[in-house]
Amino acid sequence: MTRPLTALHSEETLLLSVPAVVVEDLWFAYREGAWILRGVDLRVPAGGFWAIMGPSGAGKTTLMRILAGLLPFPRGQIFLLRHPLREKPRPALRQIIGYIPQQLGLVRGLTALENVLLGSLARHDGWRTALGFFPRSEMERAMALLEMLDLADKANEKVFRLSGGERQRVAIARTLMQDPQLILADEFVSDLDLPRAAQVLAFVHRLARERGLTVILNLHELQLVQEFADHVVILKEGRVVFESPALDLTWPLFREIMEGKR
Ligand SMILES: Nc1ncnc2c1ncn2[C@@H]1O[C@H](COP(=O)(O)OP(=O)(O)OP(=O)(O)O)[C@@H](O)[C@H]1O
Ligand SMILES: [Mg+2]
Repeated sequence: MTRPLTALHSEETLLLSVPAVVVEDLWFAYREGAWILRGVDLRVPAGGFWAIMGPSGAGKTTLMRILAGLLPFPRGQIFLLRHPLREKPRPALRQIIGYIPQQLGLVRGLTALENVLLGSLARHDGWRTALGFFPRSEMERAMALLEMLDLADKANEKVFRLSGGERQRVAIARTLMQDPQLILADEFVSDLDLPRAAQVLAFVHRLARERGLTVILNLHELQLVQEFADHVVILKEGRVVFESPALDLTWPLFREIMEGKR
């Protein structure tokens, strides 16, 4: 039976209004007393494509690593897809978070396909996968992802032989292999030239829309933020100093904020 459009519409609205990431009064220090994050609040709706900007040392990577469950935080609360993030995130929570670090975290000596398969490890802990035996279904999925990313002909190439853009796409494929609901990507296109970075972002953007994924990216190019993000946050000295729809952040405004005139 088909549902009336109005019902569908209200369900969709409900889905979109559920926050995927809630950060409340988050404080963090690597050394006692030297606060790196000072009371960060964020509320990212499900399906949002958010960019975090800010000067070097502002705490962007630190925030990403905390959200990815890699750094315990002493003060504040975080909810990811309605689950509280605690000191040791449960494997089920880890699995729905796809984290792409700036250095991509690929294993250079393995092939593209093997790297993508590593994304499915959380589903198959055990000696078989440790020895490189993956179920056929996972192999097919990994190949399909590589094909989708236009990398099928590079599947058996060692990662160190791939170009920067190809590695970026392998990292995306590995993250998608994990089947995440939330993607956290830390300046993962910063090594690429602008057209290539735009191409990779366009791909992630389309995929996120198709699959209803929530994406948070650390990005430093305003042009890319305006083109792809729907919302932007600027972090300075561990505080959120600006937040708006991405298109409202114009060049002059961005410059003023970065120069501390606002
Ligand atoms: N492991 C660490 N131990 C101690 N201090 C650290 C560590 N990692 C980062 N910091 C410090 O924390 C601050 C924030 O670093 P972070 O990497 O989060 O900044 P960022 O906003 O990502 O900068 P960038 O734009 O340069 O990547 C910096 O002053 C940095 O020196
Ligand atoms: Mg950083």
